[in-house]
Amino acid sequence: MSDFFMDTYHRLPVTFSRGQGCWLWDTGEKKYLDFTSGIAVNCLGHNHPALVKAISEQAAKLIHVCNYYQSDTGELFAGALVRASAGAGIRKVFLANSGAEANEGACKIARKYSLKKYGPGRHTIVTLKNSFHGRTITTLAATGQDRLHRDFGPFTEGFVSIPGGDIDELERALDQKTTAGFLLEAIQGESGIIPQDEEFIRAAAKLCAERDILLMFDEIQCGLGRTGTFLACEGYGVKADVVTLAKGLAGGVPIGAVLAGEKAAAVFETGDHGSTFGGNPLACAAGLAVLDLAARPEFLKDIAEKGRRLMDTLRSWNHPRITGLRGRGLMAGVDIDAEAWPVLEACLALPERGLLILSAGPHTLRLLPPYIISGTELDEGLTLLKQVLDGI
Ligand SMILES: Cc1ncc(COP(=O)(O)O)c(C=O)c1O
Repeated sequence: MSDFFMDTYHRLPVTFSRGQGCWLWDTGEKKYLDFTSGIAVNCLGHNHPALVKAISEQAAKLIHVCNYYQSDTGELFAGALVRASAGAGIRKVFLANSGAEANEGACKIARKYSLKKYGPGRHTIVTLKNSFHGRTITTLAATGQDRLHRDFGPFTEGFVSIPGGDIDELERALDQKTTAGFLLEAIQGESGIIPQDEEFIRAAAKLCAERDILLMFDEIQCGLGRTGTFLACEGYGVKADVVTLAKGLAGGVPIGAVLAGEKAAAVFETGDHGSTFGGNPLACAAGLAVLDLAARPEFLKDIAEKGRRLMDTLRSWNHPRITGLRGRGLMAGVDIDAEAWPVLEACLALPERGLLILSAGPHTLRLLPPYIISGTELDEGLTLLKQVLDGI
């Protein structure tokens, strides 16, 4: 344990010093295949040449200007992001630094939209049980997991969470008189890669439209191409009023984004919201390099194909230790009949080449390989995982 960092993370016993593509090297020069993408952040892998070039060139030109001004790179990035998200009905963007901050922005938009149109009292934001929306006091209130609420109350008022998949409950919760927004992950990440079913999402879209409640997708983990469409909600065939992105959007440089559709685009007026670093040229340059690949149809098609290969291989094992399998694109949740953490440790400790994977809950392994992974690397990582599962 570090003498200097607070003890917030359950850390594995490894210290990394460099990375390249889908591989990381520890300080002893052992090599590890990365099936985590830094929890959906290093979507282009490590040190992708286009990303390194964009960051280096931008750093030499202009790292930051405050939001009193515009920057050429910021304008280019915002345009590219809106164009990439047009399929979900997105028109405008606000840039922040993290997922939690993006979700805070989304909640503020829903509250103000409702207040301006309907007056006070219609401020509730409905979320789902087992969701994860961040670690701030408000995004914890939005997060439907009691275990994360211990010790930190009181929380921001006006959040209720309901079970995913329950359309009757959804009809009741989306009360036209009290509800401003519905915030959900189309595919829940932290709680085990749980895709919401299509009927539920379509019902949510219909109810929100009928009742003028903002439909807000938290795509911080599942968006940005990971499921094979640029936004995961596009894969469900619905449009969004708000989408939040963060994590991989600038390939590892901190960023967050609130994307707004027609209804939500003009809610924030001058002075309503802001963020010192939000949209600074360095993050935007990195974001442009990511979008240059991640928004291309052929790149998205390739992610979807690799995702199928991932799931087909996992399924083909018919492994006695695997009790459940879920996924979309390059995100997979693998339930096992054992504790997940020792499997992470065993993957790390494999001789010569370690494998980096994540957990999502006590008995679920989570695989989030970088988008640039080759078929050979995908197969190699899965072979290593099988080797570990065979041995537990
Ligand atoms: C779906 C989702 N929303 C929000 C967040 C919070 O993002 P951040 O840690 O950047 O605040 C996360 C982080 O894991 C997430 O997966």
